[in-house]
Amino acid sequence: MNILIVGAGGREHALAWKISQSPRLDKLFIAPGNGGTALIGTNVPLKDNDIEGIVAFARDNVIDLVVAGPELPLVLGLKEALDSVRIPCFGPCVFDAQLEGSKAFAKNMMRDTGVPTADFRVFDTHEAALAYVRAHDLPMVIKADGLAAGKGVVIAQSMNEAEEALHDMMVKQVFGEAGMTVVVEEALVGEEASFMAFCDGKTIVPMPSLQDHKRIGDNDTGLNTGGMGAYSPAPILPEDSYTAMADLAIRPIVEHLAGIGQPFKGVLYAGLMMTAKGPMVLEYNVRFGDPECQPLMARLKSDLVEIMLACVEGILSPAQVVFHQETSCCVVMAAQGYPQDYPKGMVISGLDAAEEIESVKVFQAGTQLRNGVPVSSGGRVLGVTALGCDLRQARERAYRAVEKIRFENSYYRKDIANKGLRRS
Ligand code: AMP
Ligand code: GLY
Repeated sequence: MNILIVGAGGREHALAWKISQSPRLDKLFIAPGNGGTALIGTNVPLKDNDIEGIVAFARDNVIDLVVAGPELPLVLGLKEALDSVRIPCFGPCVFDAQLEGSKAFAKNMMRDTGVPTADFRVFDTHEAALAYVRAHDLPMVIKADGLAAGKGVVIAQSMNEAEEALHDMMVKQVFGEAGMTVVVEEALVGEEASFMAFCDGKTIVPMPSLQDHKRIGDNDTGLNTGGMGAYSPAPILPEDSYTAMADLAIRPIVEHLAGIGQPFKGVLYAGLMMTAKGPMVLEYNVRFGDPECQPLMARLKSDLVEIMLACVEGILSPAQVVFHQETSCCVVMAAQGYPQDYPKGMVISGLDAAEEIESVKVFQAGTQLRNGVPVSSGGRVLGVTALGCDLRQARERAYRAVEKIRFENSYYRKDIANKGLRRS
């Protein structure tokens, strides 16, 4: 089979690495890919929002399966565009992609299907949103409805912050169309966890739990990022709770979508807050998390291509999805300054030495090859991932590997998996 992966991050390198191990694979392409994917497949210079270009490439190169890494192409209708030329796509239809593309859509569906989530209201005028916010207690969470590159969520501790967030989104329209509608919701308190499942439209197969680290600084301080590290399993969500969690957070949505003729095929990701009142869903993503995908692929034993085909064809069975029992841990190395401005073009060394450490795999994210040498080209540069017999060993190996890698202005969190260690 010829397979095309869309995307350019650590997630896509991890998917490419796992897919490249499948006996089903002939040729692998990644659009646009990065320095890591260039070593195991052919990078194609097409952006993830260039739906026409991706479809034309897939048709011209006899692609048998397109795998959507990020949400944007799905929200833009990649699946439908591929359907029209009869090329299978791993990832949901544009209707289902609204679960990630519109927070109001996701919250309304959670309420309609009984999924536990923070109390909320949706507003599409600034006056009404402002009046509501002024009449309610703080803290309060204000979210731009649409995709805002992870920047559309403000946890307002003061009325000033709340008013400024509404003004930025609805009057200044800093996120454009995405912020014209806002969700205002109750602030939840608890530890976060990531829970993902493969879905074939009706059958749901949960994957091992993970915990991401969203803030840039140690001890969860500073700005929100795409994620600075993750480990699996997360002791806060043990294996014997996966079935119950799937029934709580995934099944109601998948059954509802099947019932209205929009079966969900792909990966459904529930971002959870483990509150004193029980788990609540913060958000859905319609794809693998990043960095979560990296420690997850390190643990996946089964053939990912077989799983993806079964999802697309609606014949998924739990027996097809087997994970190694080992624990995995991924530490993201970023460029100093991320998630704001950061330098690019730093030469990266020490990748081979890092991978000489037992069970270590370095996934590349914001990198390019320059004359065969990896250089940084993004904020999150590498995902240094290790397996171990327990979290302590996986974490120790990952950090030992991080220390072998050098690039100017590198930055990483020193406390990845500490919360998990305290619980295990
Ligand atoms: P979201 O994109 O909705 O997941 O929000 C991004 C991040 O904001 C989450 O990972 C949480 O850390 C935080 N967050 C979102 N909603 C809430 C909430 N209702 N209460 C507290 N924190 C939240
Ligand atoms: N790491 C969180 C996400 O992929 O959305």
